[in-house]
Amino acid sequence: MGSTANSQKKILILYYSYSSQTKNLLQAIMSGMDTSPVSVFMQRIEPVVTQHFPFGSVSKTIWKMLLTFFRQRLLIQPLPDACFQDYDLIILAGPTWSYNPSGPVLALFDRDGKKLFNDQIVIPLISCRGYWRMHWWGLKRLLTKCGATVPNLIVFSHPSHEPWRTLGVFLKLAGKVPERIPWMKKHYPKYGHTIAQLAEAERFGTQLAEVLVSGGNFAEIEFKTGPALYNKS
Ligand SMILES: Cc1cc2nc3c(=O)[nH]c(=O)nc-3n(C[C@H](O)[C@H](O)[C@H](O)COP(=O)(O)O)c2cc1C
Repeated sequence: MGSTANSQKKILILYYSYSSQTKNLLQAIMSGMDTSPVSVFMQRIEPVVTQHFPFGSVSKTIWKMLLTFFRQRLLIQPLPDACFQDYDLIILAGPTWSYNPSGPVLALFDRDGKKLFNDQIVIPLISCRGYWRMHWWGLKRLLTKCGATVPNLIVFSHPSHEPWRTLGVFLKLAGKVPERIPWMKKHYPKYGHTIAQLAEAERFGTQLAEVLVSGGNFAEIEFKTGPALYNKS
């Protein structure tokens, strides 16, 4: 991306995505960085046992929600050496699972947290249906313990209204198609993030690259995502 001068700023995007929502946001962020002179290395956190989407039944979904509420770790594959270099910015991205970071991200902290994040600037990106605060506080604490600086946060919530949003995610995870259920589809047109949110993510990518290149302050970027503005503190 851009020029290859030695002074080129380097970004690591480290992510887990179960149902592709985080991945879609990151692809938009990357495309927003496309014309900037930054180099981006993107790496998926890969569970040892492939996690198939959806879980496929109501009982499996309830069981998984219970396990993740107790912060179940999911063993992950080793990361390539490229992840352990010095970066000018790391974006750590993934979904909220039962108010926590996802199992693969928790396993990442257990195994590689200090080595990856010590002395690095890390901005988390959270994709969730809407309940991200505990996840954010926990993530900030874990990152700070590893020696990272966490100047900002990007959150994308699913835009449908409650209770349809929660019901929709649950049915989707259980293997149903809520968008096509007659009594549901009027309130729940789509699982996950919208095209407008992807456009917003693209804009955030451009802003991040601009701040990085100009030596500005990441804390000053206003990552306001849609009408549901949030308070980072
Ligand atoms: C096991 C599980 C638990 C979840 N718990 C929450 C939650 O506590 N709060 C929330 O807002 N969303 C929760 N979600 C919804 C996801 O965070 C949301 O669908 C997200 O956009 C998925 O991103 P991904 O496709 O990148 O995995 C949960 C999803 C799963 C699979």
